[in-house]
Amino acid sequence: MTEISSDTVESTDITPAIAPTEVRMAEIVFPNHTNHMGTLFGGQALAWMDKAAFLAAARYSRHTVVTARSDQVDFKLPIRQGQMVETIGRVVEVGRSSIRVEVELVAEDLATGERKLCTRGHFVMIALGPDGKPTPVQPLPFAVASA
Ligand SMILES: CC(C)(COP(=O)(O)OP(=O)(O)OC[C@H]1O[C@@H](n2cnc3c(N)ncnc32)[C@H](O)[C@@H]1OP(=O)(O)O)[C@@H](O)C(=O)NCCC(=O)NCCS
Repeated sequence: MTEISSDTVESTDITPAIAPTEVRMAEIVFPNHTNHMGTLFGGQALAWMDKAAFLAAARYSRHTVVTARSDQVDFKLPIRQGQMVETIGRVVEVGRSSIRVEVELVAEDLATGERKLCTRGHFVMIALGPDGKPTPVQPLPFAVASA
């Protein structure tokens, strides 16, 4: 067993210097997530996507956020029971209080490692202040906005 000495761990504060624009959530498709065909139920997929959009926007803005809009969601490929699903949320556009998040569902076969982009959609989240009203958020860093 490898021991971690206090010399190895220099600092426990790993807060990034700039606001994070991405979150990744990992799930496994269990039977209670599926439809009658044994593939991921669309409503479950949307719930994971909305959660990733929430986390990406809240983490970016450091405010609570609400979903104002879910844009076109394309279910390109089914996701099977037993597969791992990575839900990736990326902040792609920022207005005054609105934060547009692109969300992808990537299915990974745990036995082979094969990964497929199965679903993509966009969500508009609104940052709220302590009064529950829309509040301004910081502009998107240039490198992200121009990517
Ligand atoms: C979203 C919400 C906070 C907006 O409140 P509002 O008083 O209409 O806000 P404003 O008109 O001042 O607009 C604020 C921002 O929201 C954006 N916005 C409002 N409705 C929107 C919509 N349907 N789609 C995209 N953006 C929207 C505006 O463009 C604006 O963006 P900006 O600040 O970047 O310019 C309000 O409509 C709300 O609480 N909706 C319910 C949210 C909810 O319950 N979500 C869960 C759904 S299951």
